[in-house]
Amino acid sequence: MESATEGISKLGINGDFASSVPNLHKNLSLLSPDQIELAKMLVEMGQSHLFSHWPESGVDDGEKKAFFDQVARLNSSYPGGLASYIKTARGLLADSKTGKNPFDGFTPSVPTGENLSYGDETFMKFEEAGVKEAQNAAFVLVAGGLGERLGYNGIKVALPRETTTGACFLQHYIENVLALQEASCKVTGGQSKRDIPFAIMTSDDTHARTMQLLESNSYFGMKPAQIKLLKQEKVACLEDNDARLALDPQNKFRIQTKPHGHGDVHALLYSSGVLEEWQRVGVRWVLFFQDTNGLLFKAIPASLGVSATKGYHVNSLSVPRKAKEAIGGIAKLTHTDGRSMVINVEYNQLDPLLRATGNPDGDVNCETGYSPFPGNINQLIMELGPYLEELKKTGGAIKEFVNPKYKDASKTAFKSSTRLECMMQDYPKTLPSSARVGFTVMDAWVAYAPVKNNPEDAAKVSLMFSE
Ligand code: UTP
Repeated sequence: MESATEGISKLGINGDFASSVPNLHKNLSLLSPDQIELAKMLVEMGQSHLFSHWPESGVDDGEKKAFFDQVARLNSSYPGGLASYIKTARGLLADSKTGKNPFDGFTPSVPTGENLSYGDETFMKFEEAGVKEAQNAAFVLVAGGLGERLGYNGIKVALPRETTTGACFLQHYIENVLALQEASCKVTGGQSKRDIPFAIMTSDDTHARTMQLLESNSYFGMKPAQIKLLKQEKVACLEDNDARLALDPQNKFRIQTKPHGHGDVHALLYSSGVLEEWQRVGVRWVLFFQDTNGLLFKAIPASLGVSATKGYHVNSLSVPRKAKEAIGGIAKLTHTDGRSMVINVEYNQLDPLLRATGNPDGDVNCETGYSPFPGNINQLIMELGPYLEELKKTGGAIKEFVNPKYKDASKTAFKSSTRLECMMQDYPKTLPSSARVGFTVMDAWVAYAPVKNNPEDAAKVSLMFSE
């Protein structure tokens, strides 16, 4: 095996490197060749401050190695590695400082989609088609969130979905997937014996408790092999506009990390090989949903029927949205250069975007009493073939954003460290204009009842939108 000293010379570590980071240089003999590569990358990316407090070799050596273990994890879990993360962060932080509008040049309009009325003939037709297609479906639950707004310490999927039986959300979801599996098998004359795959994205905050909930309840009747847990990693925090990585205030040999958002699900499904495995066994549709929407499965069959009938590559489940309501609107955005995309526009961006593009009243209701833009509930149905093709190009990287809280109007310093975040509904941003992206609207009482806010805040929100 190559010694560290040989590694150092092979990697061309020279006097410049030694003088720029003397404390790191003094510790090089502790590091493996791979770790030296990572050290070089950090120095080249303007991160020398991470080593400024490092003591002589022989002191805290275990912590120094643990630091590089963490750097290796952060590097391998991000598409393009840490260097790419830092580069992207610099660009986004510069845009944030100058107040650049991410939708500059785009004009919003209402896209085409399917508006369904629960139980009518059209609804039943789509529902029938969806039940047939369910044999070709796989489900993905994103359940890595902290639930800070709810103010609850446990995992949200363990909360009771209703109080008569006290069955939790996870039990409800699994029983519904199994019921759909059986119904689909029946309507297709028993040709399909496939178990519908079910993936759950967890995080360090939720992984062990999700596993424990499943194991202590015999997976709520699902075969253990049918369920796959994929754990998302957190991302490095940034302490300033130059994207210098922040050290953990509790341990100066660790980089501080925070959640990256549910957009990680695409990279995880891709890098884990799960999507290719699903394609091999004939899966055609991937359905994404969230930790606490107890009504969702009433809307799933008909929405899947819409995807299958209309050939949607991406189908966003939506509900009628009141103007200014704090949920995003699905909009078609057309750029002055001809590009277009159908995408969720966050509620705080929709109003200024409308005002800037010839709608002086901004985000207002139309004659229906609702905003003309359907309200995104973040339950997505993707057609696996085109989805996988796209991920082969992007590695699952989703357009990120940064939301630093600045100390003052000069925007030169942050109140606390920030990080890049990504959202799963931003997936269509990289798609070509020709991609078939649509939506399915259903009444909120049919499809949407998430548990998001603590009782006080929830009461305020419902008062705000009651008529
Ligand atoms: P929410 O928007 O409800 O976020 O996430 P949250 O983190 O759970 O709650 P707050 O914002 O702290 O109050 C929507 C869905 O995305 C998952 C959540 O578990 C939920 O199902 N999620 C969120 C992840 O899987 N990973 C993340 O990093 C964030």
